[in-house]
Amino acid sequence: MNVLLPQEFLYQLKQANPIETVMSAYVHLVQAGSLLKCCCPFHSEKTPSCMVYAGTQDPHFYCFGCHAGGDVITFLMKIEGLPYMEAVERLAQNAGLPMPQQADDHGESRRRSRLLELNRCAAQFYYKQLCGEDKRGLQYLAERKITPQIIKKFGLGYADGRWDGLQKAMGAEGFTDEELIDANLCSRSRKNDGVYDRFRNRVIFPIFDLRGSVIAFGGRTIEADGEPKYLNSSDTPVFKKGRNLFAMQFAKKSQSKRMILAEGYMDVISIHQAGFENVVASLGTALTPEQCRLMRQYCQEVVIAYDSDTAGRSATAKAVNLLRAVGIQPRILHMKDAKDPDEYIKKFGAGQFRLLLEEADDAVKYALEHCKDGIDVTAVDGKITMMQKAVSVLADVENDMQREIYLSDLAKQQEIDPAVLKEQVAREIRMRRGREKKQAWRAAVNQPLMRDPVNPTAVGKRKSAKAEELILCYLFRHPDAMEEIAQQITPQQFVTELYSRAYGVYLREMPKLSAFTFSIFSEDFTPDEMGVLTGISARYEEIDVSHASVYDAIDVLRNQNDTPQESADTLSDADFRAIFDRKRKQKG
Ligand code: UTP
Ligand code: MN
Repeated sequence: MNVLLPQEFLYQLKQANPIETVMSAYVHLVQAGSLLKCCCPFHSEKTPSCMVYAGTQDPHFYCFGCHAGGDVITFLMKIEGLPYMEAVERLAQNAGLPMPQQADDHGESRRRSRLLELNRCAAQFYYKQLCGEDKRGLQYLAERKITPQIIKKFGLGYADGRWDGLQKAMGAEGFTDEELIDANLCSRSRKNDGVYDRFRNRVIFPIFDLRGSVIAFGGRTIEADGEPKYLNSSDTPVFKKGRNLFAMQFAKKSQSKRMILAEGYMDVISIHQAGFENVVASLGTALTPEQCRLMRQYCQEVVIAYDSDTAGRSATAKAVNLLRAVGIQPRILHMKDAKDPDEYIKKFGAGQFRLLLEEADDAVKYALEHCKDGIDVTAVDGKITMMQKAVSVLADVENDMQREIYLSDLAKQQEIDPAVLKEQVAREIRMRRGREKKQAWRAAVNQPLMRDPVNPTAVGKRKSAKAEELILCYLFRHPDAMEEIAQQITPQQFVTELYSRAYGVYLREMPKLSAFTFSIFSEDFTPDEMGVLTGISARYEEIDVSHASVYDAIDVLRNQNDTPQESADTLSDADFRAIFDRKRKQKG
């Protein structure tokens, strides 16, 4: 990258955007000794292993689980999927800082802001069309009992039957055909190389991100046999399907600890109109872990309100697992005599739907009830199979007291001795623990070969890599030692590619600065690489790196030869974690 931002600007940018403030818009931070921690938003976990070093001279975060890490810029890049410049721009905008001149016209970020602008214009165009002369869209929405207030609130629109309605209108606004294609609003015609509108004869549902920008569209056909029923934007530079949820911009504001998860646009809108604003849908694809983590930041409990058909039921089972994996309590809505929430509310009203919500089964009860699906429980064999399934469901319950309650209910219901059932469940849990341990052990044994996709040259050279980490860590803490160490060892003598590069950049940038900051790396290194570099600092946090040990490390590198140097006594990340925890306990 060649657009170097002045370090002074980056310093101000970070001062104005404290990492804990920026992060807390996405995660729930809790105090942990002198640090803050949270459940990592970059991988699924229930106990927090993402540490935030906020009060330090160079604030950064590091996840001990997945090795994500970096400064506030890296965080924003990763969580929003933004390129470097765009993340910097957002932070600058946030703080009211003007961007330095040279970076103003950065191509990629300009392209993205043009696309967002185009989406905004297109949404306005569709909205105007809805209220225009051709009333078919409005009629359709009226037939589906959507009120004018909701139409306005969701910014619903209409695309008529023309092949070039949007294209002409956006052309007049100065948008090019290429931009229309990039935004996935138009497609290129195979016949004459021209472009045509993708959305025709459809009511339009704009999709917003958390900041209120229009990032994509869904369109439902208003024709009886229109195909496909729903047409969606595919991924674009400003839209990644599995990362967003429909109506999240409202749900996140609803201040409810509970969120409702529906299957489709119309369900969300009906539920919203019935007075529940904490409702989202996963945009016509299977629910993703990323979407679950997004919900986790705003709620503790999710009521799954999927369709009541077989497809809906199997999607429900999958969603339960995904939600549990991020620490959300899933509950499940039981709808009778309606295929989906939209139809239910139309038939029975909002009041009835509220009752349904309150009666929503928790996932355990739901799973227990479905244990007998497809089994003849009047036969002994059937009953045994069912009970085996039930044991497995109960073993899934992590909370001891909860498990006890379900267990005694089930025992009573099935007329089984609770002590026997309890023993069965305990055995299942023991077996699973054993299996998990074995897997963890196997993973640990295989670690040297599989790990470090980010610094691949470190594989088989752990000892050198550790020596390099030690040197870098010392340099991060003692920039004043730079000249001395630079005389002892050059970047070329570093063995692993990533650390060699990092050392080079350090030697290049530090003479310009008064204090060390990770932002010297942010332009030349990917977010993943930033994670590894911040990880050095985080993992050595509680370990004294002495001046003498740096000389030992330098010796290791100078004397290193080509023989593989795997050695069991090098510290793994788990070891670091253990030391770290132990020291913290001693302190607290
Ligand atoms: P449904 O077919 O259940 O739609 O698909 P619905 O919400 O009941 O729609 P109406 O009531 O007939 O209008 C549920 C969701 O799956 C996605 C959409 O997001 C839809 O809301 N879907 C469905 C598509 O993306 N494409 C399709 O062709 C159909
Ligand atoms: Mn449906």
